Amino acid sequence: MDCYRYLVNFDTKNLKTEYHDVLIIGSGIAGVYTALNIDPKYDVAILTKESIEISNSVLAQGGIAVSLDKTDSPEFHFRDTIYAGAGLCSEESVWVLVNEAAENVKTLLKYGVQFDMAGPSELSFGREAAHSKNRIIHAGDTTGKEVCDKLVSVVRTRKNIIIKERIFVIDLVTENGECRGLLAYDVNTSEMVFFASRVVVCATGGFGQLYEYTTNPEVATGDGVSLAYRAGAQLADLEFIQFHPTVLYHPQNRSFLITEAVRGEGGILRNAEGKRFMPEYHELAELAPRDVVSRAIFMEMKKTGKPNVYLDITFKPREWLEKRFPNIFRTCLGYGIDISKDYIPVAPAEHYCMGGIKTDIFGRTKIKGFYACGEAACSGIHGANRLASNSLLEGLVFGNKIAGEINRIIDDIRRDSGFSASYHRERKSLDVDINAIKKDIQKIMIQHVGIIRDRQGLELAREKIARYREMLRDYKNTNPDDFEVQNMLLLSYLVIESALEREESRGAHFRADFDRTDDINWKRHIIKERDMNEV
Ligand code: FUM
Repeated sequence: MDCYRYLVNFDTKNLKTEYHDVLIIGSGIAGVYTALNIDPKYDVAILTKESIEISNSVLAQGGIAVSLDKTDSPEFHFRDTIYAGAGLCSEESVWVLVNEAAENVKTLLKYGVQFDMAGPSELSFGREAAHSKNRIIHAGDTTGKEVCDKLVSVVRTRKNIIIKERIFVIDLVTENGECRGLLAYDVNTSEMVFFASRVVVCATGGFGQLYEYTTNPEVATGDGVSLAYRAGAQLADLEFIQFHPTVLYHPQNRSFLITEAVRGEGGILRNAEGKRFMPEYHELAELAPRDVVSRAIFMEMKKTGKPNVYLDITFKPREWLEKRFPNIFRTCLGYGIDISKDYIPVAPAEHYCMGGIKTDIFGRTKIKGFYACGEAACSGIHGANRLASNSLLEGLVFGNKIAGEINRIIDDIRRDSGFSASYHRERKSLDVDINAIKKDIQKIMIQHVGIIRDRQGLELAREKIARYREMLRDYKNTNPDDFEVQNMLLLSYLVIESALEREESRGAHFRADFDRTDDINWKRHIIKERDMNEV
């Protein structure tokens, strides 16, 4: 079973239409930085489904990996990224990432981003898991917020960029495999709008909300990745879902990240009995790659029968902790946990999707004029497991590359008026509780498509998701809740299918029934592409 081409019926002739040279969907680091690098002579609209301040990037704590320290080099950064990626990184893309990191970080400094300093003109470099060098630049433990706030403030000064908030983008409108614009729902006015453009950049982030426990905000429902699939773009590596090892485990909060930088500063993982366990699992102990640490925690939780483990940073002075991790210190204290005295209860939660819309190093997809960037994209830099703090960097480096490409080609494909499109199929209203379905998807995914999977669980998950898909196949989708659930069902299904197909364990994809890495058969990518014959 595939999906219909469009989520809603429409005729652009009857819709309010706006023309722009470039449309960018999403207001995280990838979207905003791409916009800033488009030549100011072109008009750019950033469409975001919530307010511009809400994105996954804003929540990023740890920092940005860049080999600027004198003991470091792009070659070391390349080697670490490839090692973490467990055999599936694209070397070409990783070279672009590590070689172009420094120039983009310098642009951030030029925009006034304040990173922590080790001296008057010396950045402070932190350590995170699987990095062989201290190379993470950071702004306390709220790096994403510092970067995004500054970038947005610069965007607001640009006359050629308009920010359109509370615009839910439903589908990409195409003609003969070429991009023609976006069909959207304006939440402010409750009406559909057609945004016409031959150049669209998808920077909508990942789909962490497929899972009950995730560090991602509520907006991360994979809308961009889903609309790309419906329009005919290829999706790759969907089975690789990264679980962050240390997310606060508290009855009132199961999504607050405890940055890996805490382990980078020496934090120790202890099981429910207070025993350190990571050295038994990997020579790098607490600083092993993320997939290894998450699985080890999962095993310890199983062994002890407890729902969490602990992160111990109590050996650091209180004043130091308050300065280095102010947000974590304050938030934990709000829950009665004084991290200078108490172990922090933690458990893994979904954090990042390595897979997404397949792109080349210029962010190009299979659809002419349609680009993808950031977590929504799969440019091949993360392979089967992303190296910590490469994600904000990815948004910068590839956002810049996409903008360069658009600046190069846009004069040849600028605005065309007079285009119209329509779509119609029978649809029906149903008495269904869409929010209950959303919650059930999240439970199904965490239970059967989480850190450790097997055929039995995956097949059960597929059956349950397929049942919902069938039920809502001809449903008359009318509002953002409906669109989100359709997108979540589509992506869950594709993630499960990919996870079933990959009969091996690699990086973040661990199959209890195929627990070895099988390079002979599986050192390759699984691509999902819609059968475009189905309308
Ligand atoms: O642990 C962290 O701060 C997360 C970093 C990342 O996902 O890159």
